[in-house]
Amino acid sequence: MADLLKQLLADHANFARAIHALAHQAELTRTGQRPDFQVVNGIVAYFRDYAQRVHHPKEDLLYNTLKDRAPTNTRGIYDLLATHAGLPARLEEVEGAAAVLERDSRASGQDFRHKVHDFAAYELAHMKQEEAEFLPYALKWLRPEDWAWVDSPFKDTQDPIFGDQLTAPLQGLLRTILASDPAVRSDHGRGAS
Ligand SMILES: [Fe+2]
Ligand SMILES: [Fe+2]
Repeated sequence: MADLLKQLLADHANFARAIHALAHQAELTRTGQRPDFQVVNGIVAYFRDYAQRVHHPKEDLLYNTLKDRAPTNTRGIYDLLATHAGLPARLEEVEGAAAVLERDSRASGQDFRHKVHDFAAYELAHMKQEEAEFLPYALKWLRPEDWAWVDSPFKDTQDPIFGDQLTAPLQGLLRTILASDPAVRSDHGRGAS
């Protein structure tokens, strides 16, 4: 239980850092600066490759196991599961708006900023609600073997940006993400492991 819970919370902290860096790139366009499109696309790929393929599937399994253990939908906790399905479309919107901006250097960046803001607000609110409602509920009802069962298929996965085995390009992306967030410079952005 402890390892999986710590990893989910560490993921949330790292997702928030990546979102902060993406928002920083979007804000640059307010003053006529160009975003670093490698950073933007790297962060989009991070959410697609890690959040969607590792973090959310773990949580989906936890939610579904929790339904067996505590079948009442207390405070709409199981409804949170549906919000995972809303992430891909918002990521695509960010990616599409970034591509338009990259092709047209005269574009204002307003659409890109809106799409980033929409994605950021959606994902941050989702994580906050999970931490306030879902994870405490799961801690109350799930058995130790449930947490181990959910974690077992993902034992060999690792975070491609905040993990320990980074390729050189991803080390550069990690540095950029951390550099845009003064709050995390001091701890190098590594969550609990
Ligand atoms: Fe989630
Ligand atoms: Fe989550």
